[in-house]
Amino acid sequence: MSVPTVDSLQSIYTNASLIKQGERYDTVIKQFNQIYGRFPEFIVRSPGRVNLIGEHIDYSGYGVLPMAIERDVVQAVATDASNTKVQIANMNPKYPTRTFEYEGEEKVVTIDSSSLEWSNYFKCGYKGMLESSKEKVTPKGMSILVDGTVPAGSGLSSSAAFVCSSALAVITANQLGLSKQELTEVAIVAERNVGVNSGGMDQAASVFAEKNYALYVEFVPKLKTLPVQLPSGASFVIAHTLVTADKFTSGPKHYNLRVVETKMGARILAHCLFGNKLDVVLDTYKQVMDEYFKTKQGISEQDQLTQMLTLVDRYLTNTTGYTVKEMADAAGMVENDVVATYMTRFPVQTDVFRLHQRAVHVLTEARRVQQFIYICHQHEQDVNNTNNNDVLKQLGDIMNSSHESCATSFDCSCPELDQVCNVARQHGAFGARLTGAGWGGAAVFLTTPENVPTLIQAVKEQYYHKNFPEFSKDQLDDAIFPTEPCRGATIFTGFDQS
Ligand code: GLA
Repeated sequence: MSVPTVDSLQSIYTNASLIKQGERYDTVIKQFNQIYGRFPEFIVRSPGRVNLIGEHIDYSGYGVLPMAIERDVVQAVATDASNTKVQIANMNPKYPTRTFEYEGEEKVVTIDSSSLEWSNYFKCGYKGMLESSKEKVTPKGMSILVDGTVPAGSGLSSSAAFVCSSALAVITANQLGLSKQELTEVAIVAERNVGVNSGGMDQAASVFAEKNYALYVEFVPKLKTLPVQLPSGASFVIAHTLVTADKFTSGPKHYNLRVVETKMGARILAHCLFGNKLDVVLDTYKQVMDEYFKTKQGISEQDQLTQMLTLVDRYLTNTTGYTVKEMADAAGMVENDVVATYMTRFPVQTDVFRLHQRAVHVLTEARRVQQFIYICHQHEQDVNNTNNNDVLKQLGDIMNSSHESCATSFDCSCPELDQVCNVARQHGAFGARLTGAGWGGAAVFLTTPENVPTLIQAVKEQYYHKNFPEFSKDQLDDAIFPTEPCRGATIFTGFDQS
């Protein structure tokens, strides 16, 4: 299945925002014409996402439940078959126009990941798509204008929205005929070229999400997505703490470090359980779990996860934190090997590696995802749909436990995220949790439609007015807003191209 081409904005956005989006697209097209002296041939878009449950477990192989949001990255594109020059401009003057040339089949394009450069994200999509396309084409020249509404560093996946829309622009410009699946898989790997060892949740949500549904994303044995119906009467609000969480800059101390901590934990567990009996390296908890339960039939995933927690207590006993040497010894490896395999492409900075705490988060969070989805399915089948608030309370409790686990075991929250979540819980949120990588960025609250205005007002008064007294109404509306499950990536051609 390839990314759909649509000719009406109605099939992309909600009715409430159609006028605003129409004006936005008109402005982009007009500006494009001013810059390039022609009209775009097509416009691609890929949305950001909010993760409802399942934080920091995608790179351990466990399924997650995000949904796409309306905020997205839009790219207007025109092509030129007579050259291979790419010029990329941005509606936001903060991002200066860049040009680069295709560097041939071998290299495609050079990406300097030592600096935080906005066009690197485009190059990731460009390189990824051209390298993976089966037909070897000389790419066309491209003139591009980007307009993004996902706030950078908000944990709402602005980078994946940008990489996926870039990849889609390259596919469409060169008629590469890649499926949604291929686009997502390539975008996941390609985004790592900017220096963050991220999982695959954001790209999957950005490409596969469906209007009105959350999206269950599984990674093992292969990437698979399944729309999940949320209970009627479940309303979500997103609040950006305005603490910028930039995965790139803080990678060595935060995101990339957590990837190492979870991979080494899994590797040690595999060594303790299977010794040298296997000829493959297992370094995700899901791989270890699948191997361990391979011959034990009929145990539900939730029960498997519970048993895994017992194994973690038994084998990852050092709760004050491991040194590299201690990790290497426990995994039956040599120190140099640990560094070369896990800390060289994505370097880390830390005194100790808290494998036990991270494992507890991953396994309990994976269990929470299963519980959350189970409740949604049960509710869908309940024809009477009687106890709506009970269901929301159950889901909210799971979200609250997730936040608690992120804050204490995974150590990826921050005082501002804790604060907005507390305010939300005191004002009618059944559940409140950080969403995305954390260490700043946004939180998501679950409430009822009737309570949305009260909840937003309370957070404005108790968080934003106190911390950002100078903020205008527009700035506040940009920081905290209701959201609903939106559509994933699309190609839009419903405009006059001459
Ligand atoms: C970032 C990554 C995702 C995921 C989340 C945490 O958004 O890009 O792959 O790991 O953090 O759940």
